[in-house]
Amino acid sequence: MGLILSMAGNAIGLGNFWRFPRVLAANGGGAFMIPYFIALLLLGIPLMWVEWATGRYGGKYGHGTLGPMFYVMARERIKPRGALIFAVIGGMLAFAVTTLLNSYYIHVIGWTAAYSIYSATGAYYGVNTAVFFESHISNVQMVLATWLIPMILLFIAAYRGIAKGIEAFNKVMMPILYIFAVVLAIRSVTIGSPVRPDWSSFAGLNYIWKPNFEVLFENFWVISLAAAGQIFFTLSLGMGIIQNYASYVKKGDDIALSALTTASLNEFAEVILGGSIAIPIAYAYLGPEVVKSGSLALAFMALPNVFTSIGEAGRLFGTMWFLLLFFAGWTSAIAMYNYLVALLEEDLRIKRKVGAVIVFIIYFLLGLPVALDSTLIYFGELDNWVGSYLLVLLGLFDVIVAVWLFKPEKLWKELHDGALIRVPSFFKYVLMFLAPLYITILLVGTTIDYYRTGVFAKTDPLIVGARIAIIAALILGALEAYIAIKRKYSEELAKNEVLVRID
Ligand code: ALA
Repeated sequence: MGLILSMAGNAIGLGNFWRFPRVLAANGGGAFMIPYFIALLLLGIPLMWVEWATGRYGGKYGHGTLGPMFYVMARERIKPRGALIFAVIGGMLAFAVTTLLNSYYIHVIGWTAAYSIYSATGAYYGVNTAVFFESHISNVQMVLATWLIPMILLFIAAYRGIAKGIEAFNKVMMPILYIFAVVLAIRSVTIGSPVRPDWSSFAGLNYIWKPNFEVLFENFWVISLAAAGQIFFTLSLGMGIIQNYASYVKKGDDIALSALTTASLNEFAEVILGGSIAIPIAYAYLGPEVVKSGSLALAFMALPNVFTSIGEAGRLFGTMWFLLLFFAGWTSAIAMYNYLVALLEEDLRIKRKVGAVIVFIIYFLLGLPVALDSTLIYFGELDNWVGSYLLVLLGLFDVIVAVWLFKPEKLWKELHDGALIRVPSFFKYVLMFLAPLYITILLVGTTIDYYRTGVFAKTDPLIVGARIAIIAALILGALEAYIAIKRKYSEELAKNEVLVRID
């Protein structure tokens, strides 16, 4: 139970309540939901099993990070020096994602802190909530102060290593989050048409749930990748953090049912609850144009309206809701923070406390441009590449390494060791063939589409800056993984044969 709730805390976060409505709105609503469910079935759920199994297997060797985990799996089929290449790729991608994604994720946690304060003081009462967000994001002092709150709390937790405390906290926080979300969802879908008769919460629901093949086919690649990316983002896949948490699972403990339960809890929170809150409210109060713009701030522009609609009581409810979102986001951010601390500790033998300080400095430096750019262009560019493209790319290497190089039969055996359910063999074939094919087609199709539409030719300094940050993180991640594995497995790599084996 504790493990499932920790994993749920890891997966359920701002991805469900902030990012899902936004990408869904920006990508045609009902057009997006079709590839979203396809990606959930073909990639999300099966890769959840793969990442749990990878983590537990890597944990047997004392590994908590992706590079070394990929190394011990890949050498089942290929020689250690070949395995090193895949390990470097895995380590590189996980490093880039956990540094860059969290650099803007923590920033959004800061927005929830700010909105909790604004709710308590009633600051957004009686004003246009879209304009209000603009004034918030341009208020540099407030943005920096509220960004530093989660940053400092993350640092303290990582410095003191309070994993057990977080687990206990999750047990209380998660059920409360669900209860509040259910209440909020009911209120949101029944809000009617408070501003104009044609702007209603039901029209918002219709936008999400009416399949729209026309829009999907017009923007096929972009929408399909955005949908797959959101599945990865929300389930915390393609980041290395599921493997890191699963490395604590013991041999003989169930992972098959636990992984499925975590995915189900997350999808309920995302599709049913997340989907019934921000978009219906935004549709009813701000109108379809604002919804379709898919602003990064959509949820923050929409939500205050529902709180003001219930008068003074809304101040308390709003404060509580944003505080709950703060903690839901925070329990995901800590997974990324701790991943990097583990990486420094395990790979480079840097003490945890020193590691916690180094990671704080990394996030501070990477987060500063996000916090200072009130246009959100830099942020949007990072999220587009890291939050979609890189996660899905790492998913492809999950399959190459943990399914093909580790061997499908071995993976299946690992997954079922201590399992409380039998995973249908259908998913084995999905993992072997459909998933890698689907990801490859998506990535190639999107890349060609980006090239055709001039995405690569953009010269805005904020966009170029974000791309430089991504390339730098990839290089640093590759170097780190290379050094770590060379050091851990020096003898094996020198002889190019497997010497260390734990079964
Ligand atoms: N999976 C985490 C979320 O959805 C990152 O917020």
